[in-house]
Amino acid sequence: MLAKKLDRVSNEGEPNMEAAAVPAVDVAERAPAAVVAAHDITRRYGEGDTAVEALRGVTLDVQQGKLTAVMGPSGSGKSTLMHIMAALDRSTSGTIWIAGTQLGSLSDTQITKLRRKHIGFVFQFFNLLPMLTAEENVLLPLTIAGEKPDEAWREDLLKKVGLTDRRTHRPAELSGGQQQRVAIARALVSRPTVVFADEPTGNLDSATSAEILELMRDSVDSLGQTTVMVTHDPRAAAIADRILFLDDGLIVRDMPRAEPGEVIAAMDELTQN
Ligand SMILES: Nc1ncnc2c1ncn2[C@@H]1O[C@H](COP(=O)(O)OP(=O)(O)O)[C@@H](O)[C@H]1O
Ligand SMILES: [Mg+2]
Repeated sequence: MLAKKLDRVSNEGEPNMEAAAVPAVDVAERAPAAVVAAHDITRRYGEGDTAVEALRGVTLDVQQGKLTAVMGPSGSGKSTLMHIMAALDRSTSGTIWIAGTQLGSLSDTQITKLRRKHIGFVFQFFNLLPMLTAEENVLLPLTIAGEKPDEAWREDLLKKVGLTDRRTHRPAELSGGQQQRVAIARALVSRPTVVFADEPTGNLDSATSAEILELMRDSVDSLGQTTVMVTHDPRAAAIADRILFLDDGLIVRDMPRAEPGEVIAAMDELTQN
């Protein structure tokens, strides 16, 4: 509300020193710094002798407006963690908060609603619907929610991901990189609280991967889109603001922005131990 008032003040074109001194967003309206948080998450698959402890007590805060990368060897629990944080799967124990709501007590219907509003997900293998056009795939989350897309936002988004001239093509008529652009736009379209991407470049050649990474970074910088990205590519991790290392179901290292060389060194250290 305050932000709106300030807008009005500035739109009137009169310098207003009093208004300028007030922060643009009311403290009470501001989302908490951690938009998604996990506390002591465990996930066990199966029972008895064959049970697998995929996560063994993971605690983390996802920082708003930042790109967080999650790295770790195959089987370390990265996908399991993404699915649990995105409310696609439930943990065996521990607590998840999304946009201030604790998931534990919610019904499946409530979780679906919460996911619709707050979560975007990008998969390694795109997961587009083959019978829909690129544009229809992008708009699908809104269509399902019975919402109409804002026309300006739709055009901006298609332009941002470079699909304006491919909007009527179906997935089979698009390259892998283009399909992943559709998937990214689909994840962004509802302006979710957080986008999770599980190895978004894992199925792409290196030149295409670089373009997709640029797009992921741009969505954080230009839209302020909070993003968590799983990758095993050090170049991908190097575009992140923060890199978490997962090993055997535990976060073993929390690193600020780093060069690819530093990421490789950290991974080497991890696999030697
Ligand atoms: N549905 C499942 N049933 C049984 N075990 C699973 C299942 N999904 C994953 N796992 C096991 O859990 C561990 C973590 O898997 P995952 O989260 O996919 O790791 P990552 O994404 O890091 O490769 C692995 O040992 C894997 O075999
Ligand atoms: Mg995985």
